[in-house]
Amino acid sequence: PAVTLTEPQLVRSLLDWYREHGRSLPWRETRDPYAILVSEVMLQQTQVDRIVPRYLAWLARWPTVEALAAAPVADVIAAWSGLGYNRRAVNLHRAATVVTAEGWPADVAGLRRLPGVGPYTAAAVAALALGQDVIPVDVNVERVLGRALGAATIEPPPGAAHDLTQALFDLGATVCLARVPRCLVCPLAAGCPSAGMRFEPQRKQAPFEGSRRQARGRLLERLRTGPVAEGDPEAPAEIVAALVRDGLAEIRDGAITLPAG
Ligand code: ADE
Repeated sequence: PAVTLTEPQLVRSLLDWYREHGRSLPWRETRDPYAILVSEVMLQQTQVDRIVPRYLAWLARWPTVEALAAAPVADVIAAWSGLGYNRRAVNLHRAATVVTAEGWPADVAGLRRLPGVGPYTAAAVAALALGQDVIPVDVNVERVLGRALGAATIEPPPGAAHDLTQALFDLGATVCLARVPRCLVCPLAAGCPSAGMRFEPQRKQAPFEGSRRQARGRLLERLRTGPVAEGDPEAPAEIVAALVRDGLAEIRDGAITLPAG
């Protein structure tokens, strides 16, 4: 069927739906760029339910960007435990150091220059904290917009980017599901050219990459409890080298440790 939904109709339907059905999540109560950045980096790898307590604990421990910058990076890596993609903890700490020295960037281009901040995260902080009229497009947003509009992005009406973004996240997470969308409860279904369709499961990560990632994660988990000797059978040289390269470990006097300082 042809596309029948216009962009303004989609925006209005989503915002109306969000007012009634949007999830209540702690990072939606703030416009603090630091809190938003922490939430977005955490949410990139893990489901919302698991992040809520971790986000609250993180902000209780390091309530400001200055507090995070002042923390030893080893503490930050340790506190990231279980959140996956540990490099993100190091980058978050580095970004906090830059912001503490230079202040917050004012726009997407400036945010992009912070360590670990790619196009998605920069747009998310700009939309959710700085009130800029951009939509951050993650896989969920991309799926919703692709199905409903055949578009890769949309231009939000002035001032609407925050709620529109959160609405797209929520629709993608609870209604416009990857394989079997729940079109019967979707506010966009009446004009959606993809309504009623089913979708193939996405391809899984190659097993080889997965096991290397696991080996890095296992070794880092041990380092969180103390040093590991170089040459330890659970510390293969290439895995150690990858952690060192990512700023997650150091080797000194034959011992592998979390980075000092
Ligand atoms: N996924 C990425 N960012 C999110 C947010 N702010 N709320 C819910 N899910 C998200």
